[in-house]
Amino acid sequence: MCSFALNYVYLKAIENIKKPITYEMELFEKKFRLSMSSRVALLNRITHYIVNRKGKQMRPMFVFLTAKMISNGEVSERTYRGASVLELIHTATLVHDDVVDDSDRRRDFFSINALWKNKIAVLVGDFLLSKGLLLCIDNNDFDLLKIISVAVREMSEGELLQIEKARTLDITEEVYYNIIRKKTASLIAACCSLGAASLKPNSKEVETMRKFGELIGMAFQIKDDLFDYGTQQIGKPTGIDIKEQKMTLPLIYVLNKCSKKEKRWLINSIKNHNKNSKRVNEVINFVRQNGGLDYAVSKMKSFRKEALNLINPFPDSIYKKSLILMVNYVIERNK
Ligand code: IPE
Ligand code: IPE
Ligand code: MG
Ligand code: MG
Repeated sequence: MCSFALNYVYLKAIENIKKPITYEMELFEKKFRLSMSSRVALLNRITHYIVNRKGKQMRPMFVFLTAKMISNGEVSERTYRGASVLELIHTATLVHDDVVDDSDRRRDFFSINALWKNKIAVLVGDFLLSKGLLLCIDNNDFDLLKIISVAVREMSEGELLQIEKARTLDITEEVYYNIIRKKTASLIAACCSLGAASLKPNSKEVETMRKFGELIGMAFQIKDDLFDYGTQQIGKPTGIDIKEQKMTLPLIYVLNKCSKKEKRWLINSIKNHNKNSKRVNEVINFVRQNGGLDYAVSKMKSFRKEALNLINPFPDSIYKKSLILMVNYVIERNK
């Protein structure tokens, strides 16, 4: 299918998923815009730039769908605040991530560091993070603040563990899962547990939904890492992981099954020729030809299966149906 037709299919998929939360997502957008305001003109210019190039907004969608599924259709002001905080934190981490990964594109346009330089991007990321935390504090949502702060800690640890492993290149599949659990799955876990906690604090659903979010977050990052091996237009650069000496599941799998000689060639390529595009392409092709992508797809699907098993016991509803569609979207999306 051509990319225009594919985009249409996926837009339709998102529309369908959003149906039972249309009202909430519209109100969320207004609140989210307001949550970024500042008296500093430069900051306002940059945050306008950010909100006008919005992403898929999957994190607030997870918050509202979870909240409505566990309560049969309710949400509260706490749910809205939680959704805003989580999208603020997600946005802050993307702004920082593009500095860390030296990436000049995000959401089909220039990244903040590409337009305003690294130092401004670092400060804007900190501003968004603090706005998020204060939104909880100003409303005494300390239980939600705890869920969110755990995710923030985990994300920073995950990013640092990733850098450590990019230096030593001795990553195993277990360590890879540990990294993606921390850097990505922890925030999606927070979205789902917060969705539940915003209405039913301390209930057993909070932990079930945290685990659900974690599993689907793992699948989410494996998909993101697969994009890096592809040629699809995803609104951000591809093929940069190897340039950054970032070893993800397709490569880790192939390293473990190839010959000693091939392994030496792979490691030498990543260590000493990672800025050479031709060599990086050879590595990418080697990983493809040796089943690296297929293996990652199969692991991604097993995380999905585990996630779906967890929500199986909830009574059927339009919210649960959408959440299941969302899980499938994580795996099948083209962006
Ligand atoms: C990108 O997240 C960062 C990762 C955790 C892989 P999204 O793919 O949800 O980014 P946006 O918000 O839609 O741009
Ligand atoms: C995901 O990291 C962003 C965070 C979890 C902070 P990546 O570097 O893999 O994500 P993209 O591909 O740039 O969005
Ligand atoms: Mg990164
Ligand atoms: Mg990145």
